[in-house]
Amino acid sequence: MPKAFEITSLVKDFGNVKAINDLTLSVDEGQVFGLLGPNGSGKSTLMKIMIGLVRPTSGSVQIFGKDPQSDPTGVRKMVGYVPESPRLYDFLTAREYLDFVGDLYGIPLEQKKERIEHFLEAFELKGREDEMLGGFSQGMKQKVIITGALIHRPKLLIMDEPLNGLDPRSAKIVKDLLHKLAGEGVTTIFSTHVLEIAQAICDRVAIMYKGALLSEGNVNDLKKMAGMPGSSLEDVFLKLTGIDDVRAVVEELAR
Ligand SMILES: Nc1ncnc2c1ncn2[C@@H]1O[C@H](COP(=O)(O)OP(=O)(O)OP(=O)(O)O)[C@@H](O)[C@H]1O
Ligand SMILES: [Mg+2]
Repeated sequence: MPKAFEITSLVKDFGNVKAINDLTLSVDEGQVFGLLGPNGSGKSTLMKIMIGLVRPTSGSVQIFGKDPQSDPTGVRKMVGYVPESPRLYDFLTAREYLDFVGDLYGIPLEQKKERIEHFLEAFELKGREDEMLGGFSQGMKQKVIITGALIHRPKLLIMDEPLNGLDPRSAKIVKDLLHKLAGEGVTTIFSTHVLEIAQAICDRVAIMYKGALLSEGNVNDLKKMAGMPGSSLEDVFLKLTGIDDVRAVVEELAR
């Protein structure tokens, strides 16, 4: 199976903090890959390195054979990225923003119009597209960001907590879309703290901890690894990341 990306012995230091600690991971084309891990475990840093926004300290990253440091434009043409804390231009309307993103990717006019129209309708933003983004709710902004990330039909989607702020209907649309795109060969790597989402839509999941991969596999493999067949991904997650004393912590906090 051809690989969408291959990451080898990746390290990223921020001063004394090892955000990524000797991480090796490759994902086949057409897979939906979920990245789990506690706060600060390195998920966002990994994704920023993949898109070329952060320079690794050492190690190698290949996105369809291209290095995001030496060929950032080549990589970005193939990739759609949903950042963790997206910034939008408050004084652009949704349509102006999406037009702008479409033009950056050089999408022909008719195609661009058609795709924007489809997304606006699917996300129930039709009728609001000529309002300024500064007045959009959090979830509405997230829908615009996701649309912008998909508009050039990327082969790889890198999405940092993409379902954040989306209502159940819109979250379902995105989940089903990722699934459908996977059938067309599109690869997705996304991070989430919602374990049910990972369980429901991922072919494979990895649990990150302190910049390294604690384990990787399909959901059932992970359960077996944690030695708890029949348990939920949440149990596995808590066990693997060593946070099985949650009850004690809560009791202490409630005193
Ligand atoms: N620009 C930066 N400067 C200094 N330290 C950073 C920087 N970016 C990330 N870090 C550190 O790297 C580590 C990993 O951060 P990262 O944002 O990748 O975690 P995360 O897994 O995405 O967490 P969360 O679940 O909270 O989003 C943290 O210790 C963080 O403080
Ligand atoms: Mg993050």
